[in-house]
Amino acid sequence: MNKSFPGFFLLAILISCNNQPEPTVQDTDPNRTWWKEAVIYQIYPRSFKDTDGDGVGDLRGIIEKLDYIQSLGVNMVWLNPIYSSPNADNGYDISDYRGIMDEFGTMEDFDEMLKGMHDRGIKFVMDVVVNHSSDEHEWFRQSRSSRDNPYRDYYHWWPAEKGKPPYRWSYFDAEGNAWQYDSLTDAYYLHYFAEKQPDLKWENPKVRQEVYDIMKFWADKGVDGFRLDAFQFVAKDTTFPKLPEGYEKDVKNVIKHYGMGPNLHDYLREMNREVLSQYDVFAVSEGAGSTFEDAHNLVDADRNELQMAYHFEGMSVGNSLEGYALSEFKEVYTRWDSAFAQEGWLSIFLANHDVPRMVSKFGNDSPEFRAPSSKMLNTFILSMRGTPYCYYGDELGMTNISFDSIGQYRDIAAINGYKKVASAGGDVEQYLKELKFLSRDNGRTPMQWDGSEHAGFTAGTPWLPVNPNYTQINVQAQESDPNSCLNYFRKMVRLRKDNPVLVYGGYELLLPEHEQVYAYTRTLGEAKMLVLLNFSAENARIELPAGLEAGEVLINNYDAVEAAGSEVKLLPYQAVICGLK
Ligand code: GLC
Repeated sequence: MNKSFPGFFLLAILISCNNQPEPTVQDTDPNRTWWKEAVIYQIYPRSFKDTDGDGVGDLRGIIEKLDYIQSLGVNMVWLNPIYSSPNADNGYDISDYRGIMDEFGTMEDFDEMLKGMHDRGIKFVMDVVVNHSSDEHEWFRQSRSSRDNPYRDYYHWWPAEKGKPPYRWSYFDAEGNAWQYDSLTDAYYLHYFAEKQPDLKWENPKVRQEVYDIMKFWADKGVDGFRLDAFQFVAKDTTFPKLPEGYEKDVKNVIKHYGMGPNLHDYLREMNREVLSQYDVFAVSEGAGSTFEDAHNLVDADRNELQMAYHFEGMSVGNSLEGYALSEFKEVYTRWDSAFAQEGWLSIFLANHDVPRMVSKFGNDSPEFRAPSSKMLNTFILSMRGTPYCYYGDELGMTNISFDSIGQYRDIAAINGYKKVASAGGDVEQYLKELKFLSRDNGRTPMQWDGSEHAGFTAGTPWLPVNPNYTQINVQAQESDPNSCLNYFRKMVRLRKDNPVLVYGGYELLLPEHEQVYAYTRTLGEAKMLVLLNFSAENARIELPAGLEAGEVLINNYDAVEAAGSEVKLLPYQAVICGLK
């Protein structure tokens, strides 16, 4: 089973938004909100900036870099978890939901960071990890201590006298088994992720109330949004039936059997009532279920549940070492856009802390094409409908580090995945080859600030090595180059912020079969833009459909573009947004 959920919706058909009425500014006005118009910058705090020399990034490091963040033009920041944690999964295993991780600093640092963001007009999104806690959380310590402890029912326990529990797969377990036997009470507990991440039992109303109280604690501090981690898994079938043979071959079944239980929507309405509707905040779900209907049910305004979701289908493209077909990439994004053209809202992203670097996966990280292809990919993210999530370092075109041996990895998913393959007598060489390209550590290397030792990230030894290409790829070098990835990113963010058509406008795919160029229009009333992206390392030529002619160039990652009538020629990885004549 793959983290990025490949093979979704194979029977999809392209639905053009042509047959829907085009939105106008007036139409969209009542639905305009700050979180739709935001550009989000995601920071992996461990890797952003270390100020105390322990090799781990910290909140004071983020405070130090607030002016830099503001200079990008982004207006919201999402931080991966910063709560107290024994760090089995880098903070996604929380031992105190109201405390700050020692390595990251103190609550005073948090308050100062939040104020610093707000003073600069930047909103803040908190990661909420409540499908599971750490096994070192007080709730779990109590829960495991005896069968009649008041916290017993905060987690999923299977008493051993019922026999072995029906098999459930675990993402990070070295044996792939989500049930862990605990001799203390002669019972098994459930962990969809690592052994140290026991799943919380959402069916218990006390657990839900604890979560809402935690969310209120942070909302009262002034956070502006919540990212609900692994959220589709919270509502489970707690009878844990035996699952049908071969179900795991279809990822839709996995989500259906492991989560998205019928109670999920009751829980979300309750969360909305208790927390979300009481503050000016939004919430985004990691995961969008297994059908469009699931996704709409999570985010449509009249549901009073969440405001946004991110789906994984885009991430399932390009996971093979052989590359991917652009037509497949276009098809996925077009189908999701069409399904949400009238109602609901999604996020747009090409990278995060769970996947490889954007330019290494979807672009071309060779010295020749790294810069144009990363600018091109940022043009894509920032010109689509949906709220863009831009991952730290992608504004510079940071690349995969591509480790060769298992000893170099720090990620529990890689380390335990390797153990699992090895103990099953599998092909570890092939596994290492895949990891080299797909590992989460590729996207977690320290931010490259300058050309000094460890890229200016730390005065100590970084917890994960800095990519050796930092001497060329770093903020300082790019600041002074008007053509750098960094300065292009700033221009592109500005273009989106100045043009509501790029946020709200209708999207229409052109030339769906073209394997080099992704071309689309965005239209909002009178405003029309044409986006042309060459996803290949070769020159490309396109013929625009009848009636369309490129007009004034609004942004271009090269100096010029060759266009005559309906014909446009694009250089390798060229990205152009222009008006239409
Ligand atoms: C989500 C996070 C991932 C984490 C997992 C368990 O998928 O994005 O980083 O390991 O949940 O919390």
